[in-house]
Amino acid sequence: MNFSDHDINMQALKARAYNLRWATLPADVIPLTAADPDFKSAPEIADAIQAYAAERVFTYQPAEGLPAFRKTIAETINKRRNIQTSQELVIPVDSAAQGMFITSKYCLEPGDEAIIFDPVDFLFKKSIEIAGGIPIYFPINVKEGTYDIEYLRSLINERTKMLCICNPHNPIGKVFTKTELELLGQIAIENDLWIMSDEIWSDIIFPGNVYTSIASISKEIAERTITIYGFSKTFGLAGLRVGFMLAPNAVVYEGLMETSLMRTTAYGVSGLSQTAAQAAYEKSWYWVDGFVNHLTQMRDYTIDRLNKMKNVSCHLPQGCYLAFPDISATGKTSIEIADYLMTEAKVAVVPGAEKWFGPGAEGHIRICFSTSKNILDEALNRMERAFERL
Ligand SMILES: Cc1ncc(COP(=O)(O)O)c(C=O)c1O
Repeated sequence: MNFSDHDINMQALKARAYNLRWATLPADVIPLTAADPDFKSAPEIADAIQAYAAERVFTYQPAEGLPAFRKTIAETINKRRNIQTSQELVIPVDSAAQGMFITSKYCLEPGDEAIIFDPVDFLFKKSIEIAGGIPIYFPINVKEGTYDIEYLRSLINERTKMLCICNPHNPIGKVFTKTELELLGQIAIENDLWIMSDEIWSDIIFPGNVYTSIASISKEIAERTITIYGFSKTFGLAGLRVGFMLAPNAVVYEGLMETSLMRTTAYGVSGLSQTAAQAAYEKSWYWVDGFVNHLTQMRDYTIDRLNKMKNVSCHLPQGCYLAFPDISATGKTSIEIADYLMTEAKVAVVPGAEKWFGPGAEGHIRICFSTSKNILDEALNRMERAFERL
């Protein structure tokens, strides 16, 4: 696979790609919106689904998840992330989003505070609020990825119960260094905070950056960390709704399982999705390597093109297939720019609006570049002309 137009099934995307993408937009619009690849998934995943379906048995599955799935997850995470976990601590969830909701519900009582970076993906705020908690914004510099650790300390009080980390960071593409994570972990220990570590982007790391899972740093940090992963970004399986949480110990495992309501059978991941995700982890890393190689080229190309556009500037993301350019020099808001690009350029982007990323996102738009060079080229050409005319 060389991640060209040939590897995109446009007919299926136009029928099936929702969440602000191909199926929801007029035919002449190119969506660079939701972080979801345009490419067909690895063939081994489809083979596993076909083999499962061929058995024609779709009976109830264990609430804890399929043993084979949990074993593969634990082995892969031990090896690739250096987290000392075991299959008894793996909890399959029907999306990273669901993992965030369960984690927030388990860690927070109504009125508790949880610290989230600003800007960051809206799911952090949403999951905390649904649990009855109060999200507290901690600003991060979009271009530099820097933040004021003393300010973080000043935000912590007796109501603070959780520190949320998105690593790599959506939307700014920052990959946190081990030193940074050590310090954040230390602050969590000193203040007895849970750590929610959303690692859904942890396989999309560009050359020159080293990924560290915060739970791999020390036993003390791991004991208070709930790690969350999903298969949507790395493997293009968003529609299968599958991911997992890693509990640090048996007590937290039990609490998360009870909170999840999976034992009631009202929730849980389908066996089909677990089988597909297991095949992804067992057989598709070659595909991920090719994908990241393609994404590295698309990142360099996209950032270079954005920086040549009038009134646009963009830093280089270290991970995630997202660009988050600064458009404040246009004098327009991010919503105005997104609307303008939609009508004038026929390109859909996500505005850096508070609703999506928090107040610190204003002055930016988010662009997803996990598509072919041809599609990206056309979208960037249209954007360039539109910014020129503005
Ligand atoms: C940081 C982050 N967490 C969670 C999710 C949700 O992933 P899932 O499809 O597994 O619910 C996303 C999707 O964009 C994301 O960017």
